[in-house]
Amino acid sequence: MKTEEMPRIEEQRLHEQERLDARKTAAERNKCGQFATLPELARSIARYALAQMGGTPVRFLDPAVGTGSFFSALCQETSPHGVESAVGVELDPLFAKSASALWSTSGLRVVKGDFTEQPVPDRRFTLVLTNPPYVRHHHLSVTEKARLKTRLGESLSLDISGLAGLYCYFLLLCHDWMEDRGLAAWLIPSEFMDVNYGVTLRRYLTESVTLVHIHRFRPSDVQFTDALVSSAVVIFRKSPPPTAHRVRFSLGGSIEAPTNESLVPLDALVHSGKWTQFPEGTAAERNGEPTLGDLFAIKRGLATGANNFFILTEAEVEHWEIPHEFLKPILPGPRYLTADIVDRMPDSSQLYLLDCAEPEGTIKASWPRFYEYLQKGREQNIHASYLTSRRAPWYSQEKRPPLLSFARTWGELELVRVRFDSYGTALKRLPTMCISCCTRRDNCAKPWNITRNLKVTCSEHSSALLRRRCFPKGECTAAACTRWSRRSLLRFPRE
Ligand SMILES: C[S@@+](CC[C@H](N)C(=O)[O-])C[C@H]1O[C@@H](n2cnc3c(N)ncnc32)[C@H](O)[C@@H]1O
Repeated sequence: MKTEEMPRIEEQRLHEQERLDARKTAAERNKCGQFATLPELARSIARYALAQMGGTPVRFLDPAVGTGSFFSALCQETSPHGVESAVGVELDPLFAKSASALWSTSGLRVVKGDFTEQPVPDRRFTLVLTNPPYVRHHHLSVTEKARLKTRLGESLSLDISGLAGLYCYFLLLCHDWMEDRGLAAWLIPSEFMDVNYGVTLRRYLTESVTLVHIHRFRPSDVQFTDALVSSAVVIFRKSPPPTAHRVRFSLGGSIEAPTNESLVPLDALVHSGKWTQFPEGTAAERNGEPTLGDLFAIKRGLATGANNFFILTEAEVEHWEIPHEFLKPILPGPRYLTADIVDRMPDSSQLYLLDCAEPEGTIKASWPRFYEYLQKGREQNIHASYLTSRRAPWYSQEKRPPLLSFARTWGELELVRVRFDSYGTALKRLPTMCISCCTRRDNCAKPWNITRNLKVTCSEHSSALLRRRCFPKGECTAAACTRWSRRSLLRFPRE
């Protein structure tokens, strides 16, 4: 293929991508991990990787090739003649057909099938550029997970958490496909850097290969038009890490021109379970100020798995004759609240959360209308969803303490006293707040006012949410903010 033909083929590819994407909804594509890489991003990654390759001949692999964004980017950054060989693997027959039609004359061989089931070829690859499917673990069947785990055990003798998404298996299984000293650039969700299920991947990156660079995009940087993830490009070489190795961590902007970066000793990574604290420039931005994550354990709230079914109005409770012992009065979303302290909602607007531990047989015998309601849920398959199927019985709820900001007593704050104390003078007023374990409403006023006036700078925070609440420069009050990130900075009110 002549280099001058590239723009025409790339245009055809984008057209194909649009056509194939339109066949599925965003939810369906999420399930199959089908989110294409934007062309500029693919080119920037290809350019960056090629610069690391020196003069090594390129034998290219994309184990999740789609329509071939990375192959296209590679050809645009070198000439196609600069690529010795190229292979793309693709599960979806329509994508595989399309990639083959677009690129076979340019030297890309498309293998149709599941990458994780392919035999490892004799001729290995010197360059892997890819954006693997982000299929979450709940979309992988038990059999599928068992097969992937066995494969991983055979290949790298590694065990991996059942919570790992498909992209983790892709990255690890690709090890055997790479030539020694080969280079890989993986565009993957950045969550592996902090979560428990990412530990195997982190170990692999620190022990089995030389981790060169991790660039994280800020959530506000758009890498995918419709995938709700924050992504990182992970670049590594298949060779053992040299002694005293340091890894480049960068954040924001592009991989070639990041807004923040630092070199992190490999040893620091080995001993850290939270890699998103790097680059250290991010910590410098804090000026030593604490973040929410330094003080509180931040977890998601209670998730029912089917709010329409589990949250009932007063009228629905009466209609289905659900006994009050199986109902918890709850507040609506914070945006519907007009007061700081809520004693109870007006009767007509009170909402209830269904939470019952009685066996279905007992319910059937004692409360037939309530039983009927549960059967209605079964017909809608609510009992079989990911969250409900993990609860016993499915119509009971996780045990979660009430949300701190709306607690009727401030006793919960006792739990964080030790951590507050360790901040000494910087937080001199807050220990008072923590010690005041009050039960009377009047006593709540002081700690409430302090909390209400805390300013939270949510660098990682959903900008849409901030816009809706009209807080300038990413700053909002703790009391008004429902989506704190553990990295959000806290600023304390003046006396
Ligand atoms: C995130 S998309 C990336 C596509 C393309 N590389 C890009 O960057 O635009 C992942 C691709 O992997 C394919 N895929 C999903 N599961 C796969 C599997 N088990 N083996 C091979 N390909 C798979 C999807 O159909 C999709 O085309």
